[in-house]
Amino acid sequence: MTGWTWEYEGYEPTDERLRESLCTLGNGYFATRGALPECTADDIHYPGTYVAGCYNRLTSDVAGRQVENEDMVNVPNWLPLRFRLRGGPWLTPDTAPLVEHRMGLLLASGMLERRTRYDLGAGRVLAVHQQRIVHMADPHLAALRTEFTAEGFSGELEVEASLDGGVTNAGVPRYRDLDGHHLIHVQAGTATPETVWLRCRTRTSDVRIGMAARLTSDGLVTVRNKNRRTTQHTVLALADGRARTVDKVIALYTSRDPAISDPLHAAVDRVGRAPGFDDLLTSHCTVWDQLWRRAALEVAGESGRILRLHLFHVLQTLSPHTADLDVGVPARGLHGEAYRGHVFWDELFVLPFLNLHFPEVSRALLRYRHRRLEKACTSARAVGRRGALFPWQSGSDGREETQQLHLNPRSGRWLPDHSHLQYHVGSAIAYNVWQYCEASGDMEFRHTKGAEMMLQIARFWADAAEYDDGLGRYRITGVVGPDEYHDAYPGASVPGLDDNAYTNVTAAWVLMRALELIDALPEPRRRELAERTGLDVTELELWHEVSRTLYVPFHSGVISQFDGYGELAELPWNEYRRRYGDIRRLDRILEAEGDTVNRYQASKQADVLMLGYLFAPAELRGLFDRLGVPLDDETWHRTVDYYLHRTSHGSTLSGLVHGWVLARARRAEAWTFCQEALQGDIADVQGGTTGEGIHLGAMAGTLDLVQRGLTGLETRDGALWLDPVPLPELSAYGFGLRYQGHWGVRLHLEHGHLDISVPFSDAPPIDLRLPDRTVVLKPGESTRLKLPD
Ligand code: BGC
Repeated sequence: MTGWTWEYEGYEPTDERLRESLCTLGNGYFATRGALPECTADDIHYPGTYVAGCYNRLTSDVAGRQVENEDMVNVPNWLPLRFRLRGGPWLTPDTAPLVEHRMGLLLASGMLERRTRYDLGAGRVLAVHQQRIVHMADPHLAALRTEFTAEGFSGELEVEASLDGGVTNAGVPRYRDLDGHHLIHVQAGTATPETVWLRCRTRTSDVRIGMAARLTSDGLVTVRNKNRRTTQHTVLALADGRARTVDKVIALYTSRDPAISDPLHAAVDRVGRAPGFDDLLTSHCTVWDQLWRRAALEVAGESGRILRLHLFHVLQTLSPHTADLDVGVPARGLHGEAYRGHVFWDELFVLPFLNLHFPEVSRALLRYRHRRLEKACTSARAVGRRGALFPWQSGSDGREETQQLHLNPRSGRWLPDHSHLQYHVGSAIAYNVWQYCEASGDMEFRHTKGAEMMLQIARFWADAAEYDDGLGRYRITGVVGPDEYHDAYPGASVPGLDDNAYTNVTAAWVLMRALELIDALPEPRRRELAERTGLDVTELELWHEVSRTLYVPFHSGVISQFDGYGELAELPWNEYRRRYGDIRRLDRILEAEGDTVNRYQASKQADVLMLGYLFAPAELRGLFDRLGVPLDDETWHRTVDYYLHRTSHGSTLSGLVHGWVLARARRAEAWTFCQEALQGDIADVQGGTTGEGIHLGAMAGTLDLVQRGLTGLETRDGALWLDPVPLPELSAYGFGLRYQGHWGVRLHLEHGHLDISVPFSDAPPIDLRLPDRTVVLKPGESTRLKLPD
């Protein structure tokens, strides 16, 4: 199927890590990198398997300090399967010549297929054809089918399949100085010669892991259990031209799973009952079909192919199985160890997409935050504030997981990390609560957990804001905005910046929405909430006041990223580009030069411009009006220009936001940035980072760029609003939506027309609002509308 396959031809050791990330298979519960089963972890290969939400905390000695880090654990490797002619050397692409090597990621069926032909000399070739799935219907299963064919000879092939508990977290070279030994008490055993098992525990979080493998071969299977691994051995009699098959089916459980008594027992039992590879593949494909129907996105050409890959990885990280788990949005997917599997504000780029296809998944991701609300309230108290302060980086229990030190690989220095001052993550959570409720119509969540989170986040902002007599306004000081290059004023002894515009404006929005939400609560519920949280009229009055008088700094006729940004030095951009070529990580370049990016008007990523990403133009104007600082189009466009020239795009999120904002401003450069967002992972634009895990926020963001960015789609006030903007390079597209009880609403835009159809159901009609008209569509109806020019 054209546009549904990602193919890699030839063996390129230097690209292997990138391919492994992009060929990762997962089902929301766990994921395994696309490593070759005959290769072990080394400088080229990095097999890794990660279970969503499975973390472990270790202390390491770094630069003379004891630092604690919590990591998403690389669990035992289920992939190993190696082979050799009897008595010969084990074959790998690094040790034996290849006649052919292809990897193909088949998106429609969620399968990784590989064909390799090893040249054995003297006209003999061994063809290896492998098919791999991580089961989308049963989240605990995965399977690997291997077909061996002798070409030009007959002989015996030895095959060894293992479960390897000797793995560590070693996937990110920058973390090499940190302890990566997360697994202890590794024990291997044999249930029957065909079925083996491995169990272990995480070192401090004490998560028990059970894995079992069933090997099907027409040769005799023998087992050896030693050195933290269990190995099944079989010999195949190969006859020239005839394929022989070995199937490996595995099951994986942890003690975090519900409805089991023991993970090892569950794994052995499950693998014993699992059907054969063909049946597993059929049930796997059925569920993938359903997923593709629920998240259908049709965009022509290469962009469509890339978007489909992005959708594939989003669905593999956050699938309907996620709805049953206590997990957040891991910034780098379940695809690698960068950022340690932590959860940042990136859900801001993910949930708006999921809301309109898998609202139950969005709800689960918000519940992950809600379960950690009490911890966030404790964190707020620790900095002397009321309400909830969510961590910039979150892991198992919701404490702040941001590293205390980070390594600049350019200078080799470990530096203090102040990014935990990105308190704006709370506003991202509130924004998602609001958006989720608007899109799904889930009043139960809105009135209960949603209201509780909105209240505590709003309370934090109102308490963090301090009145400045001189300005006659409230200020929020000592924070870091989305642009994490700037974490302090030049020469300051304490980190933090004052009045980051993004922080203040989104805080004002949170306060306004929280007031609205509380006002609209059923009276008994409002009373309950007030009784439990001590919310009273005086506090609500304070929220009103703060939400109208937070300070938004300006300089040179543009919104200032933070107070004083305009006084920083200008960076000689061209000179730096000339000297370094790629200056995305300007912070590292300047630090290695003995300078600091804090001195310059140079941003890592969209910061002020994030406001144009979150809020449609009319809503943004409304927010500024409410703050008493009118924002006309001219000022906004000047602001966009200003930061466009002062941003190095050191985060994949930056291209996405710029593409989105510029498309809305109908600017010609929009496509360049959309392209950068589309290319982010497939071309590894940030230089070597994708091999350590995909960038899930940017991937999901590109889907939403079509779904909400180009269409101007908003779900608010009980209606579906559309205000499409043209982007010539992406002019025809269509997608399906799940909206307030309607499944499979179809939209298609092409040639200035919008076609929309609503499937039959007993849900109420959809109130559709375009800039120039209102249309009401009943279930079973469809219409074609000409869009305004
Ligand atoms: C970006 C953050 C983002 C994080 C995780 C960083 O490089 O600056 O905005 O949350 O990556 O994706």
